[in-house]
Amino acid sequence: MSKHNILLLGSGGREHTLAWKMHLSEQCGSLYIAPGNGGTQDVGTNVTLDPMDFSAVGKFCLEKDIDILVIGPEAPLVEGIVDHFRENPALANVLCIGPATQGAMLEGSKAFAKEFMAKYDIPTAGYRKFTPETREEGKSYLRNHDLPIVLKADGLAAGKGVVICASTEEAISEFDQMLDGKFGAAGAKVVVEEFLDGIEFSVFVLTDGKDYQILPIAKDYKRIGEGDTGLNTGGMGSVSPVPFVDNVLMQKVIDRVVDPTINGIAAERMDYTGFVFIGLIMVGGDPFVIEYNCRMGDPETQVVMPRLKNDLLDLFLSLKDGTIGDQKIEMDPRTATAVVCVSGGYPGLYEKGKSINLPEISEGSLIFHAGTKFVDAGTNFAKGELVTSGGRVVAATTLSTDMQSALAGSNAMADQIRYDGKYFRPDIGFDL
Ligand code: AMP
Ligand code: GLY
Repeated sequence: MSKHNILLLGSGGREHTLAWKMHLSEQCGSLYIAPGNGGTQDVGTNVTLDPMDFSAVGKFCLEKDIDILVIGPEAPLVEGIVDHFRENPALANVLCIGPATQGAMLEGSKAFAKEFMAKYDIPTAGYRKFTPETREEGKSYLRNHDLPIVLKADGLAAGKGVVICASTEEAISEFDQMLDGKFGAAGAKVVVEEFLDGIEFSVFVLTDGKDYQILPIAKDYKRIGEGDTGLNTGGMGSVSPVPFVDNVLMQKVIDRVVDPTINGIAAERMDYTGFVFIGLIMVGGDPFVIEYNCRMGDPETQVVMPRLKNDLLDLFLSLKDGTIGDQKIEMDPRTATAVVCVSGGYPGLYEKGKSINLPEISEGSLIFHAGTKFVDAGTNFAKGELVTSGGRVVAATTLSTDMQSALAGSNAMADQIRYDGKYFRPDIGFDL
């Protein structure tokens, strides 16, 4: 069996999980993670490379004979890392897991995504798009709009570009601020959307731009506080599968959303090899698309990958040889839950460099690192001290026969993880 050398870009819990999953494959040769974190070091080699420095990434791939490049976060995709590889003859053969820029626009531009959904008749909230030139028209549209109103900065805004406004005054003030550059260039266009009242879930599709497979579905918890209150974060926990997503709803998702999305990607001739993460909301038993992402979710990956029984590299390689449609996805029937431990103060200001003490991991449990690193590695044999280096620190994942016992396991593990200022939500899954 031939081995593949892999470079994975990113440094979060998603990347530790993807690295862990890939290193389980017999086809995994050298696995590098750039820049990685304290956990990725256990399953591969961390390298100091900026994922946004495409020529440095390309040079590294040539030096290390990399044949699979996995792009964890969205920013390099939206900025064109895959196009960079395609356009360079020496790199054109590297299998890139992630779309070229046109496909990445599904995440990189909310207006582009809405136009795509309208064109391919994919159910989503009704919307209008405004720019500084149509500011006054936008305000009068807002004055006549039902409440609440959803405003979205068009471009990438680090998860902060969506504002749900309870009053017309708030909406107009937010609209002005977005057009005036609150989110920089990302707000040069603003999408004004109808509010959908329902419960959210996420579907992950692995595609070669024509055929696809659906991975285990998941639900994440974005708010910092219990009961889904307080500020938005990168994600405080996740569960897979999602109990309310039954076969009837899933068939609607496939017929109304996944098939037309992949058909649209094919019809637009997008160069798309990788994940489509579809954020959905169920309203009255029907699925509507909230957003597309061109990568895996974090912390959804921490529950999706542990349930995926397939060799992930087999799936990736089948994207290259056109056989993804023939693959059969096998899932662990158990429920996986992830509880994320964060730094005190997150998503606002927080301190770093706190010493971390991790518990022994029992059967059915996994710890995925995000904001961690090793410092003061004394000798070549010692890794040094593990300390916090970010807002989200580690995720405690547990697999169990039912959701309640999985959550009990994740919460117990989160309890035993020690560092100054640790905080986690003990109520992940509360609404299921
Ligand atoms: P996004 O950045 O597009 O994921 O949006 C962030 C969050 O805003 C979503 O996860 C939803 O909770 C919420 N949201 C976005 N669009 C809508 C909408 N049209 N109706 C209700 N909630 C929404
Ligand atoms: N958990 C949501 C995201 O990764 O965008």
